[in-house]
Amino acid sequence: MAKLLVTGGAGFIGANFVHHWRAAHPADTVIVLDALTYSGNAQNLEASDTELVVGDIGDQSLVEKLMRDHAIDTVVHFAAESHVDRSIHGPDAFIETNVIGTHSMLKAAKSVWLDEGDGQPHRFHHISTDEVYGSLELDDPAFSETTQYAPNSPYSASKAASDHLVRAYHHTYGLEVTTTNCSNNYGPYQFPEKLIPLFLLNCLSGKPLPIYGDGQQRRDWLHVEDHCRGIEAALLRGKPGEVYNIGGGAEKPNVEVIDTLCSVVDALFAKDAALAERFPGAPAAQGKPSNSLKITVTDRPGHDRRYAIDESKARAELDYAAKWSFEDGLDATIRWYLENEAWWRAIMDGTYRQWVERNYDGR
Ligand code: NAD
Ligand code: TYD
Repeated sequence: MAKLLVTGGAGFIGANFVHHWRAAHPADTVIVLDALTYSGNAQNLEASDTELVVGDIGDQSLVEKLMRDHAIDTVVHFAAESHVDRSIHGPDAFIETNVIGTHSMLKAAKSVWLDEGDGQPHRFHHISTDEVYGSLELDDPAFSETTQYAPNSPYSASKAASDHLVRAYHHTYGLEVTTTNCSNNYGPYQFPEKLIPLFLLNCLSGKPLPIYGDGQQRRDWLHVEDHCRGIEAALLRGKPGEVYNIGGGAEKPNVEVIDTLCSVVDALFAKDAALAERFPGAPAAQGKPSNSLKITVTDRPGHDRRYAIDESKARAELDYAAKWSFEDGLDATIRWYLENEAWWRAIMDGTYRQWVERNYDGR
């Protein structure tokens, strides 16, 4: 029976991971440490039978206490500032959380597991991104685990720094670490600032769909459940000191993702008249195509052109393979947002933040 400390477990991928792990390993203990920043949502963990500790990964003594009190043997480290656009306008929080915060987590793990502990098996699993490898040309081979790091945004540079620290704590101190670098996730609970949930909610309210530049940037789309299975595989079958790339096998230009999303929305409205009553501002409610909302806006500074993942190592060594096709995953995700309107409405209208202040005063 493992005892997990999951940082950032109230965020998008962390919460999906907690639900996945609870279902697959019900006898294990799962403690979540999350600062409930703008993207953290305690309600994501409802019905997960998990203890949520509201606190900062930079609070080393809190992390050490949690590790000792619960005899933690596995840290799964998701907590991060995660949005590239925010890193362009305010990089400091990214350095604070992603670099200094990750270093604080490593110091806590070293202190409890190596300095005080008896060297029993333990695991520090670090969640990272394919963005650390930089940007590909159309004919470049996909990123492998040995691709040279070339981060281009403050976000990816901060994640690259954290990856190096994780690696260094293995090589220097013998901390048993694994890292997964994954591609763009989508699925339930994603904060509506990222491409797919933002554009979906804009389709429902009749707001413009702002396409950066020519929209020909390419990403490999990974359903969050597949990502969670990849992390699980790295925890169960990965070797300490190793890095694994996790992808969705669905590389697509942004315009194609947006057109597919719009056509799924149109088809759902055509099938279900109740949607037009619920979302009267949607073009689809007025018989117009959702893609009539597309507009071109100034490109993101330093915008990476293409990410693509070579996941042959994860396939061979972890027995990992994505199960979701992009089309089915997108359809299921859109249905999830339609069925969970209260979840995103509370974020959009500020009532969720008021709820956090009432319930986690003094966090
Ligand atoms: P998210 O923004 O939805 O969640 C981040 C979580 O971390 C939130 O719950 C937030 O409250 C918490 N957090 C932030 N700062 C904290 C701090 N100082 N102390 C404690 N908790 C803190 O992000 P996500 O999309 O779920 O990403 C999770 C991880 O996956 C990140 O490390 C990110 O870099 C990585 N990743 C994400 C994607 C993606 O497509 N979303 C792709 C590749 C890698
Ligand atoms: P995003 O979801 O922010 O993820 P990342 O930057 O980590 O890849 O963006 C995915 C792609 O969509 C990226 O190429 C930027 C583009 N994009 C837009 O064109 N418009 C938008 O409003 C957003 C949020 C993203």
